[in-house]
Amino acid sequence: MSAQGRIVLDVRGLTIGLAHAGRARPLVDDLSFEVAEGEMLAFVGESGSGKSLTAAAIFGLLPFGVRRLAGSIHLHDTVLTALPEPALRARRGRDMGLVFQNPLTALNPSRGIRAQIAETYRVHRGGTRRAAQKRLRALLTEVGLAHAADGPETYPHQLSGGMRQRAMIAMALVCDPTLLIADEPTTALDVVVQAQILDLLARLRRERGLAVVFITHDLALAASRADRILVLYAGRGIEEGRAADFFEAPRHPYSRALRDAVPPLHGHGGRLAEIPGLPPGPGALPAGCRFAPRCPNARDDCRQNEPAMRRTEPRFACFHPCPEAP
Ligand SMILES: Nc1ncnc2c1ncn2[C@@H]1O[C@H](COP(=O)(O)OP(=O)(O)OP(=O)(O)O)[C@@H](O)[C@H]1O
Ligand code: SF4
Ligand SMILES: [Mg+2]
Repeated sequence: MSAQGRIVLDVRGLTIGLAHAGRARPLVDDLSFEVAEGEMLAFVGESGSGKSLTAAAIFGLLPFGVRRLAGSIHLHDTVLTALPEPALRARRGRDMGLVFQNPLTALNPSRGIRAQIAETYRVHRGGTRRAAQKRLRALLTEVGLAHAADGPETYPHQLSGGMRQRAMIAMALVCDPTLLIADEPTTALDVVVQAQILDLLARLRRERGLAVVFITHDLALAASRADRILVLYAGRGIEEGRAADFFEAPRHPYSRALRDAVPPLHGHGGRLAEIPGLPPGPGALPAGCRFAPRCPNARDDCRQNEPAMRRTEPRFACFHPCPEAP
């Protein structure tokens, strides 16, 4: 799948559902993907497609009442899904960093950002206060928050949206993890700040071999920044491919519609709201292919069986894909 370095994250058959779901469909259904050293994989999908739950499952942070029902998650040689909670907690923050969709949920509003980031470092890495301060100073400079490294503490509410995201990224990176999952890290930011943050992630991938999962609604942004794109629809992976090729001819009708919804010149902001209809809710899955009610290519067989993701390239899950030519 990946032409890059060794595999950092390997997710197989991940299935997530409500603990007491009855006959409701899983929220994430048989999802598999991998991310290599230095690589960026983008998850693209509309609201509710399961992007954040997948990130939460990797970190062992699924919300109350939601469970991993099947599947395995490997980080290098460690089977995360076999670890007891204390061991998983030790890996979190140290080997893998998470930038949350909303930084205010992750930053403690009543504590200064230096204190919060340094504490994360000392909890996972130990060492002296002086060592933590040194690491903190280098890191704040690296993420463009050098002004917060000295003088009076800076509190989250004193920072702009972009600066808060940088503080979150600093917190996620302070222990030098090998994997970073960034859940919509730039959605609320203006285009210039968005570009700065993505440039920062690109540099960390190059310099440290950081593996990144970048979660976004924005296909054009994903195509311009990631190595590979995984499109999710109603909890399923429905197409995966090299970002460089993705705009040319996505094969799954949903990906094609997503691509066509992006304004010309690959401008940002293409959204599935422009495709007629809505994705099915968890309790209302149609028989057969879950995209059938919205699909221009749907035929009778689509309403009987659910297509599986092809194991070889090109990878998509569809009985009647769009033609190879654009
Ligand atoms: N705590 C929860 N309890 C019950 N259902 C949940 C919970 N969290 C998420 N879900 C459901 O799981 C599905 C996937 O949610 P998820 O948050 O992963 O979507 P997402 O792709 O991240 O969407 P968005 O783009 O809006 O952030 C949705 O149907 C959502 O309603
Ligand atoms: S399997 Fe059929 S309904 Fe589903 S996306 Fe492909 S053509 Fe459309
Ligand atoms: Mg989300």
